[in-house]
Amino acid sequence: MQPLPGFRDFLPDDCAQRDYITTQWRRSAKCYGFVEFDGPALESAELYEKKNSGGEILSQLYSFRDRGERSVVLRPEMTPTLARIIGSHHRSFLKPLRWFNIGHCYRYEKPQRGRLREFLQLNCDLLGESSPAADAEVIGLLIDIFKSVGLGPRDVVIRLSDRLVWQQFLQDHDLPDEKMREILHIVDKIEREPQSKTEEKLAACSSSLSVKMLQQFIKEAKAPSLAPLLQELSARGLRDYIQVDLSIVRGLAYYTGVVFEAFSLQGGLRALAGGGRYDHLIHHLSDGAANMPAVGFGMGDTVLLDFITSIPSAAEKKASYLAANAPCQIYLVIADETYREEAIMLASQLRREGWRVLFPLSTERVSKQFSNAQAARATLAIVIGAEWPLLKIKHLNTREEEEITPEHLFKKLAGELQSRQGTFP
Ligand code: HAM
Repeated sequence: MQPLPGFRDFLPDDCAQRDYITTQWRRSAKCYGFVEFDGPALESAELYEKKNSGGEILSQLYSFRDRGERSVVLRPEMTPTLARIIGSHHRSFLKPLRWFNIGHCYRYEKPQRGRLREFLQLNCDLLGESSPAADAEVIGLLIDIFKSVGLGPRDVVIRLSDRLVWQQFLQDHDLPDEKMREILHIVDKIEREPQSKTEEKLAACSSSLSVKMLQQFIKEAKAPSLAPLLQELSARGLRDYIQVDLSIVRGLAYYTGVVFEAFSLQGGLRALAGGGRYDHLIHHLSDGAANMPAVGFGMGDTVLLDFITSIPSAAEKKASYLAANAPCQIYLVIADETYREEAIMLASQLRREGWRVLFPLSTERVSKQFSNAQAARATLAIVIGAEWPLLKIKHLNTREEEEITPEHLFKKLAGELQSRQGTFP
């Protein structure tokens, strides 16, 4: 039997790759002072249906009745859960808060490259601060995550926009605020849908607007409200990554100002990440108990991994992480069974020091042991045989060999550990 469409099995190699992504996510988030939080995967349907949270996501919910007749939903995103938690606990924390989460989300989307029905999403959100410095901090973190996996300004772009610019556009065209959601929905799809469909939708919403007017506005309008943020990003040396693009409005309903999406410059892939400012959601979801401006983003694992694999320098970086974290570092080759007990003692001692060590569990030919060592991606083989207590070390990558006593072996390994910060061999 296969997993359901859009769901994945994770074999050990897939887990190792996921570990690479989540390690870089965690490391970058922590560098910006973000702390990890978590919440349940199953939430009350009310959280998504009653309040202002959704957008397209509402048509993609995994929703059902549980055995207690509660209407429940597998979370399609983390932001409403975060807003709910903050609404109940905000008094216990000093503002601003910097919180991140890595967790599974569920959307009944058409499974395709970079889009699944169960995916891992990183969320980083800065709450309780409305200044552009907060927006810059969050976008800076997003860019640092790309840098951490070897992606630079020639690989990714952050397309930046401001919904307030669109609000002004509606006012200038005498359109009521209620039309905002419809217009934003049309703009969100303008690049992906055929023009005839956009025209049709626009005609249903306004008689005074045309697709041409929208396209011209996207091309020519300025967004002066973004100037302070752009300045902040320049001060961080990140301006190269940013492109102001008013066609970015985001599909979710709750954004109130700055919005952004990260894309590959190679084209082809869906957005790598997306986020923005949502200054009213916490107020809405806490029934007024808390009121806090907020800005953040979400990033999925699959589209990022696909992209890394297609960029040689990023793929190399991933490969060297995977090699350094291979399942085995040291393989003990037992060339003479008389010394099995000594080999086991040596293995135990090495493991106590934190090395990842394997040895054959039953009698094996020496050549078979060496191929097992290669298969486990060990970098060092230590041969224990008739010369005991003298050991033979073989570096499996360079084929270099040397003879050494156990005492010197430990000294040597301790030195290597220090000089390579724990990644040796
Ligand atoms: P979103 O744009 O819906 O935003 O998703 C953010 C990212 O999650 C996407 O850019 C993509 O990397 C990943 N993603 C979304 N759907 C899928 C899918 N079906 N399969 C794989 N990956 C997917 C949000 O979710 C907002 N809650 C983000 C946010 C946080 N805004 C403020 N704070």
